[in-house]
Amino acid sequence: MYKVGIITASDKGALGQREDISGKTIREIVEDRGYRVERAIILPDNEEAIFNEIVYMADELKVDLILTTGGTGFSKRDVTPEATMKACDRMANGIAEAIRYHSLSITPRAMLSRAVSGIRGETLIINLPGSPKAVKEALDYIMDSVHHGLEILKGDSHDCAR
Ligand code: MTE
Repeated sequence: MYKVGIITASDKGALGQREDISGKTIREIVEDRGYRVERAIILPDNEEAIFNEIVYMADELKVDLILTTGGTGFSKRDVTPEATMKACDRMANGIAEAIRYHSLSITPRAMLSRAVSGIRGETLIINLPGSPKAVKEALDYIMDSVHHGLEILKGDSHDCAR
């Protein structure tokens, strides 16, 4: 059973001024797929705080997958991709590309997400946009392939042949 960390980046959420529906949506979707949520946290849109949390989840808790939501847009406070890139030792651009590719068939605004994805050690980190709708649209599309990617990352599978 793969372990998941969830980070919601939201100034309002961190102050308790907005309910974290996106974080809950992520939890529901991954639990439905048999993953275990090890830790879920709401943080302000602060690059250092998000970076430190990714490092903690990856290096100390050793979660297999970190899903972030929010802070991927153009606002000056949106810094989730920068924190994620800093934490990764290898980027896995295809996942972020796939999310945008699929999301563009739903809304052209998908081009406004600067989300990235990458790997720190044996942990895969994926940025998702902030809205619950976007979270569901993205996860429904990527999770089958992400699962296979985790199997390869963990050495549980070397075989991509179907
Ligand atoms: N992706 C999907 N699938 N569905 C959406 O509704 N909204 C977009 C985009 N990606 C959206 C989406 C919008 S309007 C923005 S501004 C960006 O994600 C960035 O969102 P964020 O700043 O909340 O991360």
